Amino acid sequence: MIDTQENEGDITTMIEQPVSKKTLDQAIAKRRTFAIISHPDAGKTTITEQMLLFGGVIRSAGTVKGKKSGQYATSDWMEIEKKRGISVTSSVMQFDYAGKRVNILDTPGHEDFSEDTYRTLMAVDAAVMVIDTAKGVEPQTKKLFQVVKKRGIPIFTFMNKLDRDGREPLDLIAELEDLLHIEGYAMDWPIGMGKGLKGLYDRQNKRIELYGSEAKGEQFIPLNADGTIDPSNPLTEEGEYQDTLGDIDLLNEAGNTLDLAKVATGDQTPVFFGSALTNFGVKTFLDSFLSMAPAPAGHKTVDDKLVKPDADEFSGFVFKIQANMNPNHRDRIAFVRVTSGEFEKGMDVTLARTGKTLRLNNATEFMSDEREQVSRAVAGDIVGLYDTGNFAIGDSIYTGKEKIQFPKLPQFTPELFVRVTPKNVMKQKSFHKGMKQLVQEGAIQLYKTWNTDDYVLGAVGQLQFEVFQYRMLHEYHSEVEMTPIGSRTARWIDPDQLDPSMASSRNLLVKDLAGQPLFLFENRFAENWFHDKYPDVQLTAKFQTD
Ligand code: G4P
Repeated sequence: MIDTQENEGDITTMIEQPVSKKTLDQAIAKRRTFAIISHPDAGKTTITEQMLLFGGVIRSAGTVKGKKSGQYATSDWMEIEKKRGISVTSSVMQFDYAGKRVNILDTPGHEDFSEDTYRTLMAVDAAVMVIDTAKGVEPQTKKLFQVVKKRGIPIFTFMNKLDRDGREPLDLIAELEDLLHIEGYAMDWPIGMGKGLKGLYDRQNKRIELYGSEAKGEQFIPLNADGTIDPSNPLTEEGEYQDTLGDIDLLNEAGNTLDLAKVATGDQTPVFFGSALTNFGVKTFLDSFLSMAPAPAGHKTVDDKLVKPDADEFSGFVFKIQANMNPNHRDRIAFVRVTSGEFEKGMDVTLARTGKTLRLNNATEFMSDEREQVSRAVAGDIVGLYDTGNFAIGDSIYTGKEKIQFPKLPQFTPELFVRVTPKNVMKQKSFHKGMKQLVQEGAIQLYKTWNTDDYVLGAVGQLQFEVFQYRMLHEYHSEVEMTPIGSRTARWIDPDQLDPSMASSRNLLVKDLAGQPLFLFENRFAENWFHDKYPDVQLTAKFQTD
């Protein structure tokens, strides 16, 4: 990893002149900021890569992830990473496509899964849900979906891996309603699947998209007004096509109708089918998605005031803090979602939490196209601020006299817990310092046992503990011992209702950083037992994803 500070000139594009209101409005209207949510292996990386190909960011497939090895390949993509000095593959990807400026915010999955994954969803205006047609809705998709659903933003679904045999399309749509309680509206429909995949019946664009036909030239067959194709077309002889027509009749008669108001609030999801690996149906999806997804809208402050994206004053909020992976530099990067006005390097902003003025000299925009002449970060964009400890998750920053404070970001209920102690009791100071700073980054939660004040850490992913242990050792020279408590359900209790004798080994009583009491239940059974024993006691989760 190279020194970000030294290379800052290369990676940061500055605003040369203030822009007029009209161009600001145009710039905002172009923005599409979203995240892709999925269960590991559903194809998120593959579809992201196809989008980057369309955006001209990369030139060939396979560059984002060296497939089998899981290593990043040395490529033009890697060059971008090197120039920025941070891992863009795990943060923000920006490109221009079809007149839109697209910001894709990554939601790390697999072993990188953490609170940041959830929190990133607080900074997007829409989400794309990728589902493996052979597997349907899987656990991680469900968790991420619930966070997005609660925000009431549009969710678009891409049913992936159509080139393999999967489940019945009707079944997959029904599952969206049964498991996620969201209506599905099929924008297109597969004609066959796996080896029998012939194409897509595109209801939206009134055409048939043929599978594997790009090389042969003919890719689309227009549909007649009644939704059929010319009877002389050989496709009409195929059983798969006849089956599809049957399904389409069913959808037209008994299926949901496309309701854009419902789409806007996340009560209906437009569903697309395709195969990211063979780049089939992806462009059709991307084009429709970008035209239907919203441009950045206003954000409400804690005083219920609406901050409009085109307001004169700049504002934004920190949704993620990432330690710089360069061990020689302790700096961190605070990811700011711009909510209004324009970001300008070197500008002075007020940090709402402290009232302090900060000069934003060290900043990077996540630009993919460095040839871009004029670049501005406006509402919808993400700016990375090099931070020496000023920022905390959820912080609001703004220019102008009027204070702008956005609501706190939700805390996500951790699911895994460990007790943590310093190995060397003589090194308490570095232990406490490291602990304080790493907890501030927000990837792990800190609790103390109620009576003995022992430290307990909570996280949503196992990797967070390993990273914590590693960084304590390497950055703070503090060797820590971690004793797993295992998977637990965290539930807060009203302090007035608390009697410490309610605690047991199956429901450990701890307090959070604010001193609020909570129980860590061993399992659902233990929680139910508690409810039966203390029916009047109210328990709450911070932000439930389970
Ligand atoms: P993820 O980021 O959601 O975890 O998934 P990723 O894109 O890495 O895809 C997971 C595997 O699924 C990869 O297999 C990828 O090639 C494959 N895949 C993605 N989209 C499609 C598709 O449309 N059709 C088919 N048949 N396969 C698809 P892999 O290269 O074997 O990687 P791995 O399993 O060794 O990690």
